[in-house]
Amino acid sequence: MKNNKLFIVISLLLLCLSIYLFKTAPAVLDEGQSKQGIQLPVSVLFEAIAAENNVVRTLYTKQIVGKSKISGLKYSEDWSAEEVQAGPLPALFLRAVAQELEKSPVPLSLFLGSDFPISSANAFDGQQNEVFQGMKTTQKPAFFYADNTRRHVAMFPDYAVAAACVDCHNKHPDTPKTDWQLGDMMGATTWLYPDETVTLDEITKTLAVLRASFRKVYAGYLLKTQSFAKPPEIGDKWPDEGHYLPSVEVFFAVYDTQASEQTMRLLLANSVAL
Ligand code: HEC
Repeated sequence: MKNNKLFIVISLLLLCLSIYLFKTAPAVLDEGQSKQGIQLPVSVLFEAIAAENNVVRTLYTKQIVGKSKISGLKYSEDWSAEEVQAGPLPALFLRAVAQELEKSPVPLSLFLGSDFPISSANAFDGQQNEVFQGMKTTQKPAFFYADNTRRHVAMFPDYAVAAACVDCHNKHPDTPKTDWQLGDMMGATTWLYPDETVTLDEITKTLAVLRASFRKVYAGYLLKTQSFAKPPEIGDKWPDEGHYLPSVEVFFAVYDTQASEQTMRLLLANSVAL
């Protein structure tokens, strides 16, 4: 019921926003007018998807992986192997989402990189590494254009927000760095998109694809748990109550409430700035 109301409020706000954007707002940029609708800078899209990704990453890390001692569920880097009775670590949840995005029709790519990565496939190089070093000083996200890949790039800091981040990385046999500390910028969630500007339509479509990817990856994990020797009960309970996992609907009901409000606020803030 609460979600239905929220949905109606958000739909109305979106309607007002599109009327404002399409009927009254001045054109922001002249080039790219061949695309239908008002063009917003791609940074708005990046901010929106990064905020949504933060919601899923925090929910998954804190409420699912972080409660593994109570739920008795395990999370491992080998989770996708058939014989391993475990779920994906947060970084691997993100990688699975990245793979879904690659298969999707939207030209958005994602990867979680670092200058001291456990997996060398996650190493920043060249321009990305330079920008990342600068971010450690500014402590802010960075946006730039990469000539070599012809992609607009957005990098958002990934901080050691929990002791578990630091402990696991420092102890990992493949880590090149063993003195990570709480609060360190351990890496950056890096997003790539080909266009300099996006329409509200493109933002909505990209967000829908991103949310569908989150759902697919979480649903894949739930499916896997049903092959465990002792499968958790899937329903409306969360791991802080015991050997349970929230169903896709229950998990994403919480997600929707947090993410939709945030995204709405962001889009409205940017529409005011036009
Ligand atoms: C139980 C162990 C574990 C925990 C807890 C954990 N990580 Fe990781 N993390 C890994 C492993 C293993 C990888 C490499 C995964 C791969 O193969 O891509 C990784 C990858 C990463 C990467 C990409 C660069 C790299 O090192 O390969 C970043 C950034 C990162 N983690 C940050 C964090 C943060 C921030 C937290 C806490 C919110 C966290 N991790 C929690 C094990 C862990």
